[in-house]
Amino acid sequence: MASRRSFLQAAGAAATVVLLGDLPSAALAQPGAKLKIGTLGSGRVGSAIGGAWVKAGHEVMFSSLNLEADKKLAASLGGGARAGTPREAAAFGSVLLVSVPYAALPGLGRDLGDLLKGKIVIDTSNPIVARDGDMAVAAREKGAGIASAEFLPGARIVRAFNAIGAARMAEAAASAGRVGMPIAGDDPEAIKVASGLVRDVGYEPVLVGTLAAMGKYLVPGTPLAGERSPDEVRKVAATLK
Ligand SMILES: NC(=O)c1ccc[n+]([C@@H]2O[C@H](COP(=O)([O-])OP(=O)(O)OC[C@H]3O[C@@H](n4cnc5c(N)ncnc54)[C@H](OP(=O)(O)O)[C@@H]3O)[C@@H](O)[C@H]2O)c1
Repeated sequence: MASRRSFLQAAGAAATVVLLGDLPSAALAQPGAKLKIGTLGSGRVGSAIGGAWVKAGHEVMFSSLNLEADKKLAASLGGGARAGTPREAAAFGSVLLVSVPYAALPGLGRDLGDLLKGKIVIDTSNPIVARDGDMAVAAREKGAGIASAEFLPGARIVRAFNAIGAARMAEAAASAGRVGMPIAGDDPEAIKVASGLVRDVGYEPVLVGTLAAMGKYLVPGTPLAGERSPDEVRKVAATLK
């Protein structure tokens, strides 16, 4: 009997390891689930949001073009923080944060496309013409929701964290959900998982619509940009539909 119990305990432990490594989609959406998250980009936004997720108890692998800097960042955060290459982070995360200059998105789609297919991707990246050039003009005309989906085919994209300053994101936990974060997406499960992660940073998620319909407003300089209460986000979003 004792050996059967030990076997079951061992099997339970093994099952936990399997779940952490390869969570089925529905499990990711459970409230309080501790997730494995990979960041593609660990600059102002990636480090602020990823840092908040480490504090919330998630395991986060930071990646960028500078592995040494990411190792330092991970060491400074402690807990479940680590560093890797973009490919390692994309493989590690059940959920990915894509937070890079917009002009880097086509390359990420080409280089990591096999790992992005079917993954939940939270996309903070904005087309900024002065930084990203002509491709940003085209992406803005098309709408950033559609453009990101084209650059990262098969990814279950949720746009979020697009038009609040990175410095404010790092302090958002103190606002305890008083600020609404407009999000847009097409995949209900991805939206649910992203909503939990938006809350973990300190914002109240407000789903404003699909990538095609509302993704174009989730960039700086639109009526939805900046900080307002969740109800105000809903009111502004309603005027755009
Ligand atoms: N800053 C804000 O307040 C803010 C707010 C909302 C949304 N956004 C948007 O969010 C995105 C990130 O903004 P940010 O301010 O965090 O920019 P950032 O500080 O310049 O950081 C960009 C990060 O992307 C990495 N990166 C660049 N090319 C890459 C590639 N091919 N593969 C992997 N990583 C790559 C950079 O790595 P290296 O450092 O090694 O080059 C860096 O870690 C942008 O699209 C921005 O428009 C910014």
